[in-house]
Amino acid sequence: MQIIHTATELRQILNNQDNIAFVPTMGNLHAGHIRLVEIAKQHAKCVVVSIFVNPLQFGANEDLASYPRTLADDCEKLELAGAHILFAPSVEEIYPDFDGVNLNQTMTITPPLIANELCGASRPGHFTGVATVVMKLFNMVMPQVAIFGQKDFQQLFIIKQLVKQFNLPIQVIGVDTVREVNGLAMSSRNGYLSIEERNQASQLHETLQSIVTQIQNSSQLNHPIDFHQLKKIAISALENKGWTVNYVAIKSSVTLLDATVDDKHLVALAAAKLGNTRLIDNIEFLRTPD
Ligand code: PAJ
Repeated sequence: MQIIHTATELRQILNNQDNIAFVPTMGNLHAGHIRLVEIAKQHAKCVVVSIFVNPLQFGANEDLASYPRTLADDCEKLELAGAHILFAPSVEEIYPDFDGVNLNQTMTITPPLIANELCGASRPGHFTGVATVVMKLFNMVMPQVAIFGQKDFQQLFIIKQLVKQFNLPIQVIGVDTVREVNGLAMSSRNGYLSIEERNQASQLHETLQSIVTQIQNSSQLNHPIDFHQLKKIAISALENKGWTVNYVAIKSSVTLLDATVDDKHLVALAAAKLGNTRLIDNIEFLRTPD
């Protein structure tokens, strides 16, 4: 695996390759990221992985400074997984006019309004940061295929919009969430959890699973179900167990708008804090399973 730090070197090495699958990450790699690399290998001869902790997508009170940076370990994992190129640019390489504080000189991408909902509601500017960095990385890597995790469902949705609305010739592939045995979605932020919290953290997935089961059961029995009530119960269940809930939502997985009785393709999503750690999860499902 070659490790590259600048866009110029990257272009030289890739030299107009037209068989590139790209996996953007912020590093501190776990089995979820590695799964994306495996899927990437199925789609192209050359797999490029980027590691860049993107300052633009972190809010002022978020964990940019403490976000885990584990480049040596990450390199070993990527080598083992069979990635071909690791692109690990500096902040200056990605944001030549960003002094770390002032964004006035930085050109950004404004995502569609859906970016202000769900995670965007409590993380203003987050998806502007994500869309901007992903566009920059796409321009540097010029992949034919890009792989993202379904774990960040709203992010994947916005990246698909980015590709569609800016006419990028890139196929975006979403990959199922990789989970711990107890159901907890793997995340670099799980490292912030104590052992007790890590055991408890599976409650987020269990709560979503219970919403899915109730909706599917009601659909099979032809019973009406009140989504608002379902969400309220889920929120109090989590709060009673000590979580601070950001949101619990039931959306159309096609539009990411509030689900209506006619929607068949649904997604249940949640974000909540356990101690100081903010976790997100979602389950995409059919109202009436096959
Ligand atoms: P990061 O959180 O490092 O995640 C990189 C990719 O791994 C994303 O596509 C994410 O959805 C996926 N991923 C994370 N946990 C996963 C899991 N348990 N199972 C499957 N896939 C998982 O997401 C980002 O970085 C950044 O926002 C980025 C897109 C790189 C832009 O900076």
